Amino acid sequence: MAPIKIVIIVAVAENGIIGRDGDMPWKLSTDLKRFKALSMGKPLVMGRKTFESVGSKPLPGRPHIIVSRSQGFDMPGVESATTLEGALERAKVIARDTGADEVCVVGGGEIYRQALGLAEMLHVTHVETVVDGDTSFPQIDPHAFELIEETSVPAGEKDNFPTRYAIYRRRSVR
Ligand SMILES: NC(=O)c1ccc[n+]([C@@H]2O[C@H](COP(=O)([O-])OP(=O)(O)OC[C@H]3O[C@@H](n4cnc5c(N)ncnc54)[C@H](OP(=O)(O)O)[C@@H]3O)[C@@H](O)[C@H]2O)c1
Repeated sequence: MAPIKIVIIVAVAENGIIGRDGDMPWKLSTDLKRFKALSMGKPLVMGRKTFESVGSKPLPGRPHIIVSRSQGFDMPGVESATTLEGALERAKVIARDTGADEVCVVGGGEIYRQALGLAEMLHVTHVETVVDGDTSFPQIDPHAFELIEETSVPAGEKDNFPTRYAIYRRRSVR
């Protein structure tokens, strides 16, 4: 059986910003559609603050594991874990049980920072702008990840900015 992959999905500005005041600093309808297609049917691992930012309700069609240090975290329709490692292990079990080949780490900043060293693939929407914000994504180390695919996406009617959608794969350790 092939191992279940850990993938990160993120949208990041040219200056590394991914969030502002508990929300995204942009509206990118095209990217939300891609996010939905990419993640549908796969377990999602997200931080407690990101879960709150999407209205504390699970996104349809995807099992959720919310990471919180609080033992008492309990919300309808989602599971929780008190460590990132615990969340990823649980997500992999769910993936195996449901026939998914990946688990998706979907933010926010605190969770991405800890998960970057564990991820095999990064699906990065590079948002072609510099914005103010309070939450960022770390620099992607080209020695650790290679770019394997890149597509320019002009801003559609419901997008604030043009984007560049890039897929990075962890380089194999020799
Ligand atoms: N642009 C994008 O692609 C994207 C994607 C997602 C989110 N965002 C943005 O990112 C921002 C939220 O990010 P954030 O960094 O503030 O918060 P976050 O990473 O979503 O959540 C942080 C919380 O996760 C829990 N946590 C983190 N590490 C943990 C660990 N090792 N073990 C147990 N629990 C752990 C803690 O919850 P407790 O405090 O409950 O213990 C912590 O307060 C928002 O602005 C959101 O819109 C952007």
